[in-house]
Amino acid sequence: MAASPHLVVFTGSGISAESGIKTFRASDGLWENHPVEDVATPEAWQRDPQQVLDFYNQRRDQIRRAKPNAAHKALAALEQDGFSVSIITQNIDDLHERAGSRHVLHLHGEILKARSSIDERMRYPLPKGGIELGNVCDKGSQLRPDVVWFGESVPLFAEACDLVSQADFLLVVGTSLAVMPAASLLSYIDYDTPCALVDPEADMLSPPGVLAINTTAGEGVPALVNRWKQQGSLL
Ligand code: APR
Repeated sequence: MAASPHLVVFTGSGISAESGIKTFRASDGLWENHPVEDVATPEAWQRDPQQVLDFYNQRRDQIRRAKPNAAHKALAALEQDGFSVSIITQNIDDLHERAGSRHVLHLHGEILKARSSIDERMRYPLPKGGIELGNVCDKGSQLRPDVVWFGESVPLFAEACDLVSQADFLLVVGTSLAVMPAASLLSYIDYDTPCALVDPEADMLSPPGVLAINTTAGEGVPALVNRWKQQGSLL
């Protein structure tokens, strides 16, 4: 029996914009008024771990208040309809999961989890009330947010490349494709696999061979999903 065609979706901060979470570019390189290098680099963690923890504790509250939007929900509904859907997200929020998607790979980690600061494989549930200085892992080192900071390697990159290479359709949503190595994922699709980018700036961002769908995630993703549901296939 033929396996059902596999949709791989690669999302960036644009898919959460309509849930009220600002994209990186819309923030002029500032996150909640902090320069990225003060809060999201290994150097910032060395210099001032309290500032880094405070920043992520605040962002966590904002993310908990946000709700999945029409794009997150449409992707989850497609999976519930029996389509095979894998999501690779650059986002550290949990909006795909809260919408109901079950196969989500977080390339840049998850803000709602903690990890050891000396071993990225040692992951922990978030302590109640957020991470504090003095919360340690089983090896006694300070806990930190389970997110990939600028300048760090991306541990799940190989797994994400594998998924992309197995796609029958690659749908890219709400990403400027500016941050490496995530953006290079697109080069791992099979040469004849269709690929589309849904983004209000898609015509300027789409690499050659990628269909540009110049609209928001909240409009573009449900429209595609409805078409696939009506057709009963991705192609
Ligand atoms: N629907 C879809 N796309 C949108 C919407 C929307 N409503 N609003 C904005 N966008 C698009 C923008 O046009 C832009 O192309 O979302 C994209 C956001 O781009 P970036 O801010 O560069 O975010 P992203 O590509 O996710 O950044 C990648 O960089 O900030 C770091 O590590 C962080 O994971 C992040 C990575």
